[in-house]
Amino acid sequence: MSAAPVLVTGGAGYIGSHTTLCLLQAGFDVLVLDNLSNSSPESLRRVAELAGRAPVFVEADLRDRQALENVFSHYRPASVVHFAGLKAVGESVEQPLRYYENNVQGSLALFEAMQAHDCAQLVFSSSATVYGDPESLPIDESESIKPTNPYGQTKAMIERIILDWGQAWPALRGLLLRYFNPVGAHPSGRIGEDPQGIPNNLVPFISQVAVGRREALQIFGSDWPTPDGTGVRDYIHVMDLAEGHLAALRALDGLNGVQPVNLGTGQGTSVREMVDQFARASSREIPVVEAPRRAGDIATCYADPGHAAQLLNWRARRGVDEMCADTWRWQRDNPQGFKI
Ligand code: NAD
Ligand code: WQD
Repeated sequence: MSAAPVLVTGGAGYIGSHTTLCLLQAGFDVLVLDNLSNSSPESLRRVAELAGRAPVFVEADLRDRQALENVFSHYRPASVVHFAGLKAVGESVEQPLRYYENNVQGSLALFEAMQAHDCAQLVFSSSATVYGDPESLPIDESESIKPTNPYGQTKAMIERIILDWGQAWPALRGLLLRYFNPVGAHPSGRIGEDPQGIPNNLVPFISQVAVGRREALQIFGSDWPTPDGTGVRDYIHVMDLAEGHLAALRALDGLNGVQPVNLGTGQGTSVREMVDQFARASSREIPVVEAPRRAGDIATCYADPGHAAQLLNWRARRGVDEMCADTWRWQRDNPQGFKI
């Protein structure tokens, strides 16, 4: 590696692999650190195939301080995009200690290594889940932080740690990217989301129904105060999200301190609308059954994306039709995900 690389933690995962590809194509050298606890090295092999060059890959756990020390002293990254973490809401309710340990301890170890090596540029994967049930819509960055589950608490805590760290270390420049609902896949169909076991999220579940791996989608609540009674969310294409990270990295140079930024489209889509779009994109029937509301769910959530437009000069460009078409291509060509 010649120029100082970008360190991408969790870069073998869903959003990390798409972002790694985007950074390689933009000319960055990329160093991925991942323990593969929720991903496959095949994702990075395919990223290399699409980019025509490979990221450096270090298989290590973020909580392994010696491994971090080796990575920072050997590669001297200039900036960090920090994706690595556990992300399943329901699992975090069952196993809160594991979530706090992995997400918070891992982040602390990373931040200490960054400061020890004078690496002062950070892009952090936060989530709209930090807003809990919002007081007003669309949600802007001044909305209060009140997560409703341990996973969301880890994101809020890590945001707090980064803000306090920035107060103590004025050289630090950080962006706390609050993603809304990432979906979709690279248009080649070569990389995409590969959930282990039963998918927790709507679009992976619908696509497994479409490909015949599952019988029917359960719609969690048809009596929400929304136009068609089903939950409304701000789905964002993972390629838009990846480009948002590229824009964030570029914006760090001119930034002062640390601040949060929503990454969403500003458009709400209901569960029923998403099912209809996916049926059209895949030319498959998507059987549905009405089920009770899921614990912890809210009616409606969508972003005010204005701050990202102004600060990062970035806007989501892809619509729900493209999100479904690209998810379907990935699912159809890789019915078992990265397992060959
Ligand atoms: P993912 O599980 O596909 O990717 C996370 C990666 O981190 C995986 O490859 C995993 O192996 C790795 N990892 C986890 N713990 C690690 C550790 N201790 N050391 C090293 N590697 C570790 O998830 P994703 O959907 O790509 O999400 C990436 C980030 O974005 C996460 O922090 C997640 O909380 C956040 N986020 C995701 C969503 C979403 O809906 N996908 C929404 C908002 C925020
Ligand atoms: C979307 C809509 C469900 C599955 C989650 C996390 C959040 C963030 C993004 C990480 C809701 C409905 C779902 C199903 C359904 N992740 N649904 N049947 O809950 O908005 O956000 O992912 O940060 O933290 O909470 O996304 O895709 O699970 O649900 O009817 O089988 O689809 O009720 O209305 P959610 P989701």
